[in-house]
Amino acid sequence: MKVLVATQKPFAAAAVRGIKDILEAAGHSVELLEKYESQADLIAAVASTQALIVRSDKVTAEVIAAAPALKIVVRAGAGYDNVDLAAASGRGIVVMNTPGQNSNAVAELAIAMMIFMARTQFTPATGSEISGKTIGIQAFGNVGRLVGAKAKALGMKVKAIDPFLKPEQIVDGGAEPAESLEELYATSDYVSIHIPATPQTIGSIGYDLVSSMPKGATLVNTARKEVIDEEGLLKALEERPDLKYITDVAPDNYALLQEKCGLRVFATPKKMGAQTAEANVNAGLAAARQIVDYFATGNVRFQVNK
Ligand code: 3PG
Repeated sequence: MKVLVATQKPFAAAAVRGIKDILEAAGHSVELLEKYESQADLIAAVASTQALIVRSDKVTAEVIAAAPALKIVVRAGAGYDNVDLAAASGRGIVVMNTPGQNSNAVAELAIAMMIFMARTQFTPATGSEISGKTIGIQAFGNVGRLVGAKAKALGMKVKAIDPFLKPEQIVDGGAEPAESLEELYATSDYVSIHIPATPQTIGSIGYDLVSSMPKGATLVNTARKEVIDEEGLLKALEERPDLKYITDVAPDNYALLQEKCGLRVFATPKKMGAQTAEANVNAGLAAARQIVDYFATGNVRFQVNK
């Protein structure tokens, strides 16, 4: 089978080598499309491919229509909001992710972001310490749990909420269950967001939640920019000059936010949460193994469009 690895933001070289080794050892051929400039490049590249490995690359209905031989798409990572699941399912194409494989990288970034903001973006202004503060973790999945464990080790009080977990499961994961999302925001010095972008979550964090945060609180977003209601966030930050926002996913209104809030806001220039050599190797090799296994045995354990 022909496997296309299409990554606008390429994997580390070691990951690319590992992906090729795994797929070629199983008799598949590998083609690389890295740092491509437009969707047209991706559309042209999928013409004869049977399997596709991507990161946040947009696998739209148009891409799927241009790939008549496509049987499987693996998103090397957690969030699969970049893949048109309906279009894939309509053609019987299996879509998988590689849950957990890049979580530690994202969790480390969330911790780094808290410290960066606590120390006023590494300027000499008097900062604060995260030890002794409360972190509220919104969604206690692979990333959220790792953030919780690291925050606890740094002396923070850890609270969490997750619509898919019972309070006792949150306790088992080492956090105190919040009574509600509202309570989590209202009682946390830091809130770290780890929800996926879905029709239910898009635009769900806005004025009411942000402006309910305690004095001096910071909202940390290493999830998706779409989950934020940007107008509501701006309004809350303008009204409350003590609040801060840091994100790995630049909001559309970032220029305006910077103008109004200065050092109280920060966005990474390019999404970097999962951009470590380790995460690339873990997620990339998992994707390659899942493709090999799917073609060899039909294993669909990580399928997300069942
Ligand atoms: C994910 O959903 O796994 C992360 O957002 C990482 O995305 P990336 O592979 O584009 O860095």
